Amino acid sequence: MIDLKSIHKTFNKGKANQVDAIRGVDLAITEKEFLVIVGSNGSGKTTLLNLIAGSILPGSGTVHIDGNDVTKLPDYQRSEWIARVFQNPLSGTAPDLSILDNFRLAAIRTKSKGLSIGINESFKKSVKEKITMLGMGLENKIEQPMGTLSGGQRQALTLLMSIMDSCKVLLLDEPTAALDPRSAEIVMRAADKLTTEFGLTTILITHNLKEAFTYGNRIIQMAEGKIIKDLNKQEKASLKQNDIFDWFA
Ligand SMILES: Nc1ncnc2c1ncn2[C@@H]1O[C@H](COP(=O)(O)OP(=O)(O)OP(=O)(O)O)[C@@H](O)[C@H]1O
Ligand SMILES: [Mg+2]
Repeated sequence: MIDLKSIHKTFNKGKANQVDAIRGVDLAITEKEFLVIVGSNGSGKTTLLNLIAGSILPGSGTVHIDGNDVTKLPDYQRSEWIARVFQNPLSGTAPDLSILDNFRLAAIRTKSKGLSIGINESFKKSVKEKITMLGMGLENKIEQPMGTLSGGQRQALTLLMSIMDSCKVLLLDEPTAALDPRSAEIVMRAADKLTTEFGLTTILITHNLKEAFTYGNRIIQMAEGKIIKDLNKQEKASLKQNDIFDWFA
């Protein structure tokens, strides 16, 4: 689904503040894989996600998504494949608009194929159906302004909106970092459920080792721009939670 070959990325090349953020990464992610990325601050995790999303382009190496060579494509030309959720639950939604109107905006933005846009009942019904999947009871609050929801509720809805289009890849960069433990769990469960229900290929960056332990079917560790650990489904399943902590020793 995603294939990175010999990726290098240097920022501020030739200057005093040069950073070799990615230093030779090969990574093949198969369809429906749920990959967790851990690693210390500055190890290159977000840069790697940016390279997949196309918000930055590699210095050298190639990027393929769903069989297409996207190495030189900017992010807006990759949006048919990719949905992205950031750390801040306030980004990406309009607080004064209702949940329903926020979904309407998202549908317009992504030119959603599955939803007909408008004030019509079928749109409302399909939004309600999708929100029901979260299992948070929010389907009864769709006329409520987005800004009146908790950060966790908002982040779960942002997640749902981001994958409304027929995207195949979900990129999550510390989506729960700004949330309390209960909200974080709600959002992670939603992410897990949506990944399975929609058959997404999901990449989660997290500093929360319990999350890293609980979710996903593959885990990699990054350090200094390289992948230094890569555990498949079986290997990940046999981990104990403390094992991941020990990787940071
Ligand atoms: N646009 C940029 N310009 C210059 N340097 C950058 C840029 N983006 C990232 N870097 C540098 O590249 C390195 C990797 O950064 P990156 O954001 O990928 O780390 P990270 O693993 O996501 O860290 P964190 O856990 O703190 O989010 C860091 O040294 C960072 O300062
Ligand atoms: Mg980061």
